[in-house]
Amino acid sequence: MAQGDRSSALDQLRHAASLGIDEAVSLPPRCYRDPAIYELEQREIFGRDWIHIGRACDISEPGDYLAADLPGAAVMAVRQKDGSIKVLSRVCRHRGALVASEGSGHSGVFSCPYHRWTYELDGRLRAAPTMEGNPAFKRENCALPEFRMEIWQGFIFVTLSADAAPLGAALAPLSVMIDKYDIGDWRSAFSVEDVWDTNWKVAFENACESYHHIGFHQHSLDPIWPGLTTQPGKGDEAFNFHVVPSIPDFRYREVEGVTLDDGAMSHFFICGIYPSLTLVLAGPSTIWFSFEPLSVDRVRVRAGQLNPAAYFDAPNLEEMVAGDRAMLVGILEEDKVGCLGVQQGLSMADAASGPLSPLERPIAEFVRYLARRLAA
Ligand code: FES
Ligand SMILES: [Fe+2]
Repeated sequence: MAQGDRSSALDQLRHAASLGIDEAVSLPPRCYRDPAIYELEQREIFGRDWIHIGRACDISEPGDYLAADLPGAAVMAVRQKDGSIKVLSRVCRHRGALVASEGSGHSGVFSCPYHRWTYELDGRLRAAPTMEGNPAFKRENCALPEFRMEIWQGFIFVTLSADAAPLGAALAPLSVMIDKYDIGDWRSAFSVEDVWDTNWKVAFENACESYHHIGFHQHSLDPIWPGLTTQPGKGDEAFNFHVVPSIPDFRYREVEGVTLDDGAMSHFFICGIYPSLTLVLAGPSTIWFSFEPLSVDRVRVRAGQLNPAAYFDAPNLEEMVAGDRAMLVGILEEDKVGCLGVQQGLSMADAASGPLSPLERPIAEFVRYLARRLAA
């Protein structure tokens, strides 16, 4: 794509973000299909912002780790002996092999598969066979680099930027809204993973609005959480949110120790944390969705359910988890099929930016976030 084409896509983005919230329009279609815009996002968003990489409760024991890939950085979150979490590079300081592969695992040390340099859980180099024979070798210069990380409500975020403002402060207004749920210590009931052939923003935007319940989820979510009753909230620079009230008389099943008001025990509170994490707070369950761009038209979608400790004491736990999992998998399939169709439509030459419903305020706010990052 020529430089001029990219500039015009950014001009369109800037224009979309400049409109009043009541006359908002969707992103220019080019933003979903242009490899140059994707590269820009990788550098300016995923290479600089706070990116969700996993859940702290999923690495509970010293030596537990989970790996993640950011632009130009292979990282891993590692539970330390003192209970803290560090995010380290997975790139060996010898000749660059990865000391831990994708996914998650447990290890007492990180032993590079190439020449067996061995690193402590905190990244210090413990052993490097024969290296004392090289006077240029200094063990203390060969630790795995550490990245800035923050844990918010039990979610692990990392940034490659030395300048990113602290995440906790940026999300403080959201914390105030959701503190009553107390999800920081909730544990994973299950998680699922898939790859969708769509741009990551199609998937993220879809998770940030519930207007589409009347379409993709007409027979699943809409009969209980009607899309047209969506109540969009006024978000902030780092997040958007909305509430979807349930039909009257619906109530989540009670979980001991969870005391929430009637609203929280029946509605969805949905927040989109830029750029790629969304949460659906549904009484005693919270569903999270995380979107990792793989290319301009592919995204890895991870999702899971969190619950308080008492949920796991239920005598019919297996049945409950299976039921909750089947429901989430069904909804995700509806979203996947729908989002693939959206990407196909956006790829057509005659696709155009369209007007947004007032119920899609979170999308309008996301457009502004993108403009701040890509077209300021
Ligand atoms: S590359 Fe890791 S020990 Fe050689
Ligand atoms: Fe959906």
